[in-house]
Amino acid sequence: MLNCNMAKQVNISFDITVYDSFEELSQADQMLMQIAIKARQKAYAPYSKFQVGAAVLLENGEVVIGSNQENASYPSGLCAERVAIFHAGAKYPDVTISVIAITATSKKYEVTTPAAPCGNCRQAIFEYEFKQGLPIRILLMGESGNVVQCNSLEDILPLGFNNTFLK
Ligand code: THU
Repeated sequence: MLNCNMAKQVNISFDITVYDSFEELSQADQMLMQIAIKARQKAYAPYSKFQVGAAVLLENGEVVIGSNQENASYPSGLCAERVAIFHAGAKYPDVTISVIAITATSKKYEVTTPAAPCGNCRQAIFEYEFKQGLPIRILLMGESGNVVQCNSLEDILPLGFNNTFLK
């Protein structure tokens, strides 16, 4: 039998801002990214040699940082973004998170493309964005090259899972 149901095609798209270089960012964003750069230098990444730094700006003006923390038992390590966002959640549980700046470097090659958060980190940051009901702006950078800005975490995690499913 012929199925006459018409499936709907829905397009999900989002805008990003691409800056040619770090110098094009606002002063405030440059300062935040500088803190993320400093954080990446303190990453503990003896296995991958890939060092990531993240700086979270809160609505009260405070900045908290994170860097990736690896482990000889590989899955026990944690990405910079989750270290930073959990740090923010632990230190300022009731303060809105405004921006997270993320940057990566490697001891093996020059990272010239923006470092994007992995799926687990997107899910972790999404939890806080959903909780606060306000978008978290995301700045992504390698060591050099373009800087990408996303306007919210939800943009880069469409159809994300959240606590509304947990009745
Ligand atoms: N890493 C991060 O810190 N953030 C990401 O979003 C992707 C990967 C870290 C985890 C690990 O220490 C190293 O980079 C290589 O995967």
